[in-house]
Amino acid sequence: MTADTARDLRPLWTALLGQAAEHARTNIGYPGATDITHQQLADLMTGVLLNNIGSPYDGGHGRNHTKDLEVEVVNIVADLFNAPATRWGYVTGGSTEGTEHALLDARRRFPDAVVYTSASAHYKVGELADKLMMPLVVIGTDEHGRMDIADLYAELARRRDRAAAIVATAGTTITEAVDDIPAIVAACERLSITRRRIHIDAALSGLPLALVPEDETPLVDFSVPGVTSIITSGHKFLSTLTPCGVLIYRDPPNAATTAAVSYTGTANVTIGGSRSGHSTLLLYASLAGLGLDAHRQRVRACRQTAEYACQRLRGIGVDACRHPHGFTVYFPSPPRLPERWIIPGDGRYHRLICMPQVTRDQIDELVEAWSRMVHRVPAPRRSLARRLLSAAPNAQSRTGG
Ligand SMILES: Cc1ncc(COP(=O)(O)O)c(C=O)c1O
Repeated sequence: MTADTARDLRPLWTALLGQAAEHARTNIGYPGATDITHQQLADLMTGVLLNNIGSPYDGGHGRNHTKDLEVEVVNIVADLFNAPATRWGYVTGGSTEGTEHALLDARRRFPDAVVYTSASAHYKVGELADKLMMPLVVIGTDEHGRMDIADLYAELARRRDRAAAIVATAGTTITEAVDDIPAIVAACERLSITRRRIHIDAALSGLPLALVPEDETPLVDFSVPGVTSIITSGHKFLSTLTPCGVLIYRDPPNAATTAAVSYTGTANVTIGGSRSGHSTLLLYASLAGLGLDAHRQRVRACRQTAEYACQRLRGIGVDACRHPHGFTVYFPSPPRLPERWIIPGDGRYHRLICMPQVTRDQIDELVEAWSRMVHRVPAPRRSLARRLLSAAPNAQSRTGG
């Protein structure tokens, strides 16, 4: 098919909506919240160009941006992470961009810096070290996926004359383990490694932990001395529905001192040039529109659903585990999983994740499907008409429910 002539794309959009609704039922494997939607932003999202090019802290020549709100978003998240008044940050296109910014800053400050991260860190961290031509040392993990501090200490000791750029993870991709950040800082202190940067990839768990801390989970914020930057995603907990992130530094990074570019009138301090001004709207609508108390309630509800899922899976003989703070329920990778359910894994563990839209009904449905699979009982067939109805958007109003 060519794009030379105009086409009526409405049937395509309707089909995509139907597909999304159908998949939502069985998509319990990826951490994107979808419970907060943003219809009130439709005019701004679809009718206005918003480009937050360059630094959020200066407007630049353009007027069509949302930088004032971006600075507010940065401040709301920075407050949650207990950042001091010297904070600096911006809205990124995702968590990988935030980690890239932090590693680039480490490289600029300390050209001899070695990157340390755990074997359970996100796969992009290793790729970023490669891209920035920084040596990478992968640290072992314990059985739950937390960075092994004794291993980190040994590897740091081997290179104590070199600067360290440590990427800790708060909420590893598979088990949602949180690295012990105070212990990481203590290891550096004991070895007198003062030329160091400690960045936290808190893509998933940063905000839930900041909103509702758990006693057993180490602190993930700037109240731990030595933490230099934190990135967290917007499309995970905050339900922005489009990928984005919020990067916070304790102090402005080196690049932040760059003078304004004459063409844009704003400092060139971000990884990309043009940046979405719409992401900022979605973040602001979620953070300020809903309010932090409602977000705290969402955190508690997710943890309760996760505990329910853990118990239900254990009830059918699955060796399910979760961290007390976790939305994630993980279990040894089984030989087979119920059909249709989206449940990713890494070969060792598979996991599901109870984001706010995941209901106990869905967990019950999964557990039933899993039991049927184990006992080889065929699934009851739903009629085609019923399947189409439940997949259609606004299925409730169509059925008069
Ligand atoms: C721990 C962690 N870091 C980073 C990322 C990547 O984030 P993004 O896709 O926003 O770049 C993920 C995504 O799942 C993640 O789980």
